[in-house]
Amino acid sequence: MGPPPQYSDYDAFAWAYNKHWGSAFTESILPVIDKLVLQTIPPKARILDVCCGTGQLASALVKRGYRVTGVDGSKEMIRIARRNAPKATFHVEDARSFRIAPPCDAALSTYDSLNHMMALEDLTAVFRNVHDSLRDGGWFLFDLNMEEGYTARWRGESAIVEDDHVVAYRSSYSPDDKVGRMEFTIFRKVARGWKRTDLALTQRCYSDIEVRSALKRAGFEAARVFDGARDLEPFRNVGRWFFLCRRPVAAGGRR
Ligand SMILES: C[S@@+](CC[C@H](N)C(=O)[O-])C[C@H]1O[C@@H](n2cnc3c(N)ncnc32)[C@H](O)[C@@H]1O
Repeated sequence: MGPPPQYSDYDAFAWAYNKHWGSAFTESILPVIDKLVLQTIPPKARILDVCCGTGQLASALVKRGYRVTGVDGSKEMIRIARRNAPKATFHVEDARSFRIAPPCDAALSTYDSLNHMMALEDLTAVFRNVHDSLRDGGWFLFDLNMEEGYTARWRGESAIVEDDHVVAYRSSYSPDDKVGRMEFTIFRKVARGWKRTDLALTQRCYSDIEVRSALKRAGFEAARVFDGARDLEPFRNVGRWFFLCRRPVAAGGRR
């Protein structure tokens, strides 16, 4: 058996993600998390954030009194997360192989993080690891880009232009391979000019049936599914679905 897989694709992109994406998405998704999870767990509950990125969500949860553990494969994302949420605990670990001692009351994975699992076995492995970290009856909420999201949103180019950096990106989706690809070209001002970095991030599109059967194989109860385009106002995002599921309670156990 070789070493466990390690995900590091975000390392070179971490500072840009932190500056331009992490906070905005956390702000838009907090009301969804509040409604679907926070209202049902105890005040100082223990929450696991899987693929926690630069820690903006962890920071918001800590401010509300929760005890938060974040896991992410990218050392650089975690370095920034520790700065953004010094009272949370973070681990650089691959979501496909991490172990967190149970019991967590809830687990979250946001901003299509789980679409980064490029094979159904990898997605199932993440679900198993999350399942094993939860207490009986513990909640798991995650969002995924679905086919409709890739076809509607993963096309075209855009750019962010600031005095000391430019982030240009182009996205595409191949319905045959079910793979979305986001290519970035970043220019950042350095002492004597500009430094260029090119990187690509890929995602895999899963069907509702694949996700539900992987959850079942990992031991979860049947999921409730919310369409981010219409079920969770004021949040609105075409083709982003939220899956809410629960680790079952052992026979004779209490919820
Ligand atoms: C789009 S970012 C979302 C970050 C955060 N959840 C948020 O809402 O801001 C996706 C994150 O998933 C992480 N990631 C992707 N694949 C991973 C893996 N196999 N193991 C651990 N982290 C992974 C990346 O490093 C990145 O931080």
